[in-house]
Amino acid sequence: MVELSTEELRARLPEAVRLYVTAMGYPSWTTQQRIPVWSAHMSRSGWRCVAAFNDRDELSGIGYGYSGDAGQWWHEQVRRGMQEHLPPDQVKGWLDDYFELTELHVHPEAQGHGLGRSMLRTLLSTAPGANVLLSTPEGPTRAWRLYRRMGFTDILRNHRFMGDPRPFAVLGRSLPLDT
Ligand SMILES: CC(C)(COP(=O)(O)OP(=O)(O)OC[C@H]1O[C@@H](n2cnc3c(N)ncnc32)[C@H](O)[C@@H]1OP(=O)(O)O)[C@@H](O)C(=O)NCCC(=O)NCCS
Repeated sequence: MVELSTEELRARLPEAVRLYVTAMGYPSWTTQQRIPVWSAHMSRSGWRCVAAFNDRDELSGIGYGYSGDAGQWWHEQVRRGMQEHLPPDQVKGWLDDYFELTELHVHPEAQGHGLGRSMLRTLLSTAPGANVLLSTPEGPTRAWRLYRRMGFTDILRNHRFMGDPRPFAVLGRSLPLDT
């Protein structure tokens, strides 16, 4: 498992996005749609990426995040939900200084051996910000169990992002991890 620079991820971007599409069970055409999105995220402040490789030098895990900020699509979608359900001081407390965990995926063949947990710990060990926030589809999944074990608590439940019919949870916890 290694941290990747923007250049290193860019060199393997189609492979990384294919891994994400496979892990999430999305249709393969999503790959071409997501490559420019991942590429744009790389230039954001606080961007960090962690990757794991198998013994054939293929990606078996990928995760990244960056400092969330006003004007970003995810930030504005989450702020809208928070403003509907939380008092202003809590909205400010969560959104003032946070690292957005944007993606974390392990290839199905490598899942269930602690890799996701190790990648998350590595990513968050150098992540900037007072908090880390993420969104994940509702439902009892391995991702949920991982986030709960890592101390993430509910901020929003059954939140709807524009253009996606699925209900999501927005979860968060303070940084650094070991306090
Ligand atoms: C969510 C995801 C990243 C977690 O990665 P992972 O490597 O499978 O998960 P973990 O590191 O927690 O390991 C999973 C299991 O192995 C167990 N485990 C942890 N450390 C272990 C170790 N050292 N040896 C053996 N098993 C271990 C855990 O108890 C966990 O058990 P659980 O399945 O009952 O929760 C991965 O499953 C995935 O990519 N899922 C699909 C995509 C997805 O949902 N991404 C997140 C979107 S928000």
